[in-house]
Amino acid sequence: MVESIICRDYRALSDRAAEIVLDTVRTNPEAVLILPTGSTPVGMYARLRKSEADFSGVSTMNLDEYCDLPAEHPQSYRSFMQKHLFSGVNLQPEKIAFPKWEGNITEQCRRYDAHIEAFPRIDLAILGIGPNGHIGFNEPDDYLIAGTHEVVLANETRAANKRFFAKEAVPERAVTMGIAPIFRAERVLLLAAGEQKCAVVHRALSDKVTPRLPASVLQLHKHVTVLLTEEGS
Ligand code: GLP
Repeated sequence: MVESIICRDYRALSDRAAEIVLDTVRTNPEAVLILPTGSTPVGMYARLRKSEADFSGVSTMNLDEYCDLPAEHPQSYRSFMQKHLFSGVNLQPEKIAFPKWEGNITEQCRRYDAHIEAFPRIDLAILGIGPNGHIGFNEPDDYLIAGTHEVVLANETRAANKRFFAKEAVPERAVTMGIAPIFRAERVLLLAAGEQKCAVVHRALSDKVTPRLPASVLQLHKHVTVLLTEEGS
């Protein structure tokens, strides 16, 4: 079931997204959340930081991470999360998880899947969407992958994310959660800001389900809330 909510502007989208997260955490103080990066969730994270809600029992797992950037690199998704959320809420460091790429990447992916699978319940998966319809870094392809895996980023993705990298090249590879944990989540919250994103979401949710447009698979999920606004993030 997909419910779409059109928000007046980016502020309203961020308010609504934060409310959904806070409701989840109030209902279950030990909630398990899947978290996104990108410009779109920045407003939601700002509201969570201001909320003074109790995150001490909450566990988080991030969707994805670039390969070949050390965790402390300013453009790593670890640094993004530190800046926008972790530094401002009382999440316990041992309850925060990220996909890792260092060393044997296949082994790292397997470990991340084992970590995810150990949770009996995932309460909420929050997603952004790439201009090509990717979710996490699950890029358009002939197939979708259930588990955590390494990806070669699509040219379109690297071009879209270039704005975050001043002189350096955008990494060519990333590691991403697969589709399975998103489907295990009780609820998915998909955020899309800007006309281009709204158009991709519309295509993904109103046409055929295809791995060529990874977000289209969300049509098959039991409970998806899409927050849309034409205003960009
Ligand atoms: C990156 C992330 C995605 C995110 C997308 C959209 O590619 N891997 O998880 O959804 O960016 O980002 P933005 O919100 O900046 O458009």
